[in-house]
Amino acid sequence: MATVRTSIHGYWSSRFAFVLAAAGSAVGLGNIWKFPYMAGENGGGAFVLLYLICIALFGLPVMMSEVLLGRRGRSSPVNTMTTLAAEEKRSRVWRLLGLMGVLAGFLILSYYSVIAGWALAYVLETATGTFSGVSGEQAGEVFDNLISNPRRLLFWHSVFILLTMVVVIRGVNKGLETAVRILMPALFILIIIMIGYAMLHGDFLESLKFLFAPDFSKLSPEVVLKAMGQAFFSLSLGMGAIMMYGSYLPDDASIATTSFQVAIADTLIAILAGLAIFPIVLANGLEAGQGPGLIFNTLPLAFGQMTGGLIFGTLFFILLVFAAWTSAISLIEPAVAWLVEKFSISRFISSIICGLVAWTVGLGTVYSFNSWKKIDVFDGTILEGKSFFDLLDYLTSNIMLPLGGILICIFAAWLMSEKSRRDELKIKYEVAYKLWRFLARYLTPIGVVLIFLHVLGVLEKLNIT
Ligand code: PHE
Repeated sequence: MATVRTSIHGYWSSRFAFVLAAAGSAVGLGNIWKFPYMAGENGGGAFVLLYLICIALFGLPVMMSEVLLGRRGRSSPVNTMTTLAAEEKRSRVWRLLGLMGVLAGFLILSYYSVIAGWALAYVLETATGTFSGVSGEQAGEVFDNLISNPRRLLFWHSVFILLTMVVVIRGVNKGLETAVRILMPALFILIIIMIGYAMLHGDFLESLKFLFAPDFSKLSPEVVLKAMGQAFFSLSLGMGAIMMYGSYLPDDASIATTSFQVAIADTLIAILAGLAIFPIVLANGLEAGQGPGLIFNTLPLAFGQMTGGLIFGTLFFILLVFAAWTSAISLIEPAVAWLVEKFSISRFISSIICGLVAWTVGLGTVYSFNSWKKIDVFDGTILEGKSFFDLLDYLTSNIMLPLGGILICIFAAWLMSEKSRRDELKIKYEVAYKLWRFLARYLTPIGVVLIFLHVLGVLEKLNIT
């Protein structure tokens, strides 16, 4: 028997609308801001290869499992897990998986919004011609001036949280579809134009080598963990965003096909962003491993020199803000929907509360780039020198999301009945179903746990590596 549950928050108008919304969630700062600097910091090719492997082996099975649970539960992740645990006669403790997702969503949004604020500030900088003909050094100064000024950061952070809340208050299925339908292709075309520029004026061949020729001497357990974390972060997995969006998915849509499409689109955009950025970094002798400022220190150089750079540059940062916006909405939607269900309050009140919480936690990140660069209490520990932002990013991407991801797989592939799984997935080809089940049952959970143990040094102590 198929489930008869319905979503009180609405539905996507079609399968395609879900793909767009999920792609809107997946494609964001993770692809354009984070992927390039992570690749740059962690040695290029080897990191990129691991990231791709993690997308295929962990990302896809987790995404399918997450959509599956969401569509079956048809409510916010917390209540979806409560309902499904009861239905499958499992412990109520599974609710905590939903709650961990809500927490991860708040933590991620809190810093995500500050970085999206940088992009907002750059729309203005680019449009007013700040970057016309700048040198690398001058571009660097513009960036340093921005991040060393907490007031400016706070202002743009506040603007971005407000923007996010405006959409969430209206309900995500209104507006989001249309926005993503136009903006995604526009962003794609703009990145292609920038790759064209990079091919003509940057060190394109060197950047191909940097991104695709793996140098395995650069690998360490930490790098493997970061590549895995980046795969989860970039695909929006492990915290309930995709589960939430899955709960609005019409019954007849294929979960496997839609997940595949989202994963391909997301990965493509990340790789293309890398190809647009590294030729410029390498040709101008910029530091590939400089961290979170990478695209803000690099792209203005290109925009400052290319014909029509003022327009392209402005458009690029506007589209980056939009991409971040559609991701931010999905970060907070599970929390907003849950509060609505739990306390029967309006979407308006719920959104305001969630926005305020994320805004407040974001203050920690605002100060991470100026007066509070490192947290002193960690001196002398392995966390020495890390800022509040570094810690949040590390904790969420590398620990909470992968952990959420394997728990989702365990529930979907072990604890649900075979019948519920098949009912929901409706995969035509038996081999494909078996492959998903194998990955979700064994490979993903075991792979992620081994990576955790590797980082903790447990494998080394047992003489396994
Ligand atoms: N995937 C988004 C990005 O790449 C970030 C995100 C993570 C969104 C987790 C939702 C959940 O920018």
